[in-house]
Amino acid sequence: MTSSSSDSGSAPGTSASGAPDGARSPAPKPPAKDPWDLPDVSGLVVGVLGGTGDQGRGLAYRLARAGQKVIIGSRSAERAASAAAELGHGVEGADNAGCASRSDIVIVAVPWEGHADTLRSLADELADKLVVDCVNPLGFDKKGAYALTPEEGSAAEQAAALLPGSRVTAAFHHLSAVLLQNPDVEQIDTDVMVLGESRADTDLVQALAARIPGMRGVFAGRLRNAHQVESLVANLISVNRRYKAHAGVRLTDI
Ligand SMILES: NC(=O)c1ccc[n+]([C@@H]2O[C@H](COP(=O)([O-])OP(=O)(O)OC[C@H]3O[C@@H](n4cnc5c(N)ncnc54)[C@H](OP(=O)(O)O)[C@@H]3O)[C@@H](O)[C@H]2O)c1
Repeated sequence: MTSSSSDSGSAPGTSASGAPDGARSPAPKPPAKDPWDLPDVSGLVVGVLGGTGDQGRGLAYRLARAGQKVIIGSRSAERAASAAAELGHGVEGADNAGCASRSDIVIVAVPWEGHADTLRSLADELADKLVVDCVNPLGFDKKGAYALTPEEGSAAEQAAALLPGSRVTAAFHHLSAVLLQNPDVEQIDTDVMVLGESRADTDLVQALAARIPGMRGVFAGRLRNAHQVESLVANLISVNRRYKAHAGVRLTDI
């Protein structure tokens, strides 16, 4: 069948694509970015608030052992300095405010009970920083661990509410501090679920996780889905008690 208006079959006054004559056709979509193509974070300074505790020490040790510059924070600069000296690998100590202001990426590893007050007091030092919250709001009773539901939805959303000038993400919830701190453990074979509002920021955190041998950072959604991820630790604690293990999480088919 032939066209009655033009050889191309376009309506008068339009191009073959349907755009008005003279209008440029839309630029072709760039190819989708490979989700495993992550930025280089090796030159960034990582701070750990509450870095004298088990989780903070463990993360600081693993990242520093992988070559990252790490500063651990504490409510007491002296406690931070002595914990840093024990960790070695160039780890430095500072009070929490000094740790936050000297770091590019700041991991929050304080207990849930101190989370809000700590972040509220550091809002200025944490402005413009990439904050990584790993706090699991949990309660414990005779039956074991159970998830608490923060008013804001999750610890990470509480952080985002208290730190409007920061870029808040959530990650590193499911790690065993025992394994992290054990120098005889060469690899930490686990996935790290990373949540946040900005893909550029979650990419940076995924890349940070990948600095630790065996560990893989996986994008796992926006902060409104942080509650389930934080809560899953209650299940892991039950697993660990039943099987006398230090269980982690692996996501399949990715
Ligand atoms: N332990 C794990 O295996 C693990 C795994 C994944 C995630 N997490 C999460 O990581 C966070 C830290 O866990 P953790 O076992 O390392 O806890 P922790 O040892 O009880 O506390 C970490 C550090 O936080 C500081 N701190 C204590 N109470 C505080 C308060 N009220 N306000 C501000 N700072 C306070 C202390 O340092 P200074 O006294 O030196 O200030 C302490 O060394 C928790 O929120 C937990 O849910 C833990």
